[in-house]
Amino acid sequence: MSNVHVSNHPLVAHKLSLLRSVDTEPKKFREVVRELAILLTYEATQDLATRQIEVQTPLAKTSGAHLEQKIGLVPILRAGLGMVEGVWELMPSSEVWHIGLYRDERTLRPVEYYNKLPLEPTVSVCLILDPMLATGGSAVATMDVLKRWGAKKIKFVGLIGAPEGIAEVQKHHPDVPIYLAAIDERLNENGYIVPGLGDAGDRQFGTA
Ligand code: PRP
Ligand code: URA
Repeated sequence: MSNVHVSNHPLVAHKLSLLRSVDTEPKKFREVVRELAILLTYEATQDLATRQIEVQTPLAKTSGAHLEQKIGLVPILRAGLGMVEGVWELMPSSEVWHIGLYRDERTLRPVEYYNKLPLEPTVSVCLILDPMLATGGSAVATMDVLKRWGAKKIKFVGLIGAPEGIAEVQKHHPDVPIYLAAIDERLNENGYIVPGLGDAGDRQFGTA
């Protein structure tokens, strides 16, 4: 699959197994979501533009790099919230723009309930953060919103994707690269990723 990047880092594989385990409690689950978000964002931001700057060390002048692009972190509520904090610490000058979507349990279609984007785009790269890419409906709807807003460069950073969701994103937004810790087998009849990790929102917020 082109434009889909699945991490092959052993740390990512180890931490993802912790998330999958039904025995992992919400506190640990949140901690691991945060850590995985940092590791995957590290992989997703390898092409960020930098400007050469001069740096004075205690010993000499040398050349350094300064990040050029303004980054927007776009967590999809609620489950994407758990991915924000660690990534924000990594890139503290990022802006955070929340998009609220939930899946209608019957139709599995995304329902938008929150969007406070300003009129004009304020960032040059948007990182959509959401642990689960299942049918792809929520990711595609968020990409639609961001493109209507005027976002030029968008990347999706998630944890687990289903083949169906990846295909849906690629059909509607082939220009948006997808970064994941794993691609799982399939969706079940309720639209859950199998084997997956269950409901990422419920497991983080203890609402299962
Ligand atoms: C989950 C998940 C994604 C969405 C993925 O959110 O965090 O946003 O489902 O499913 P899709 O690819 O089929 O759209 P959910 O709707 O459960 O809301 P929550 O985060 O508030 O629990
Ligand atoms: N949302 C989740 O949280 N988990 C899934 O498996 C699918 C959608």
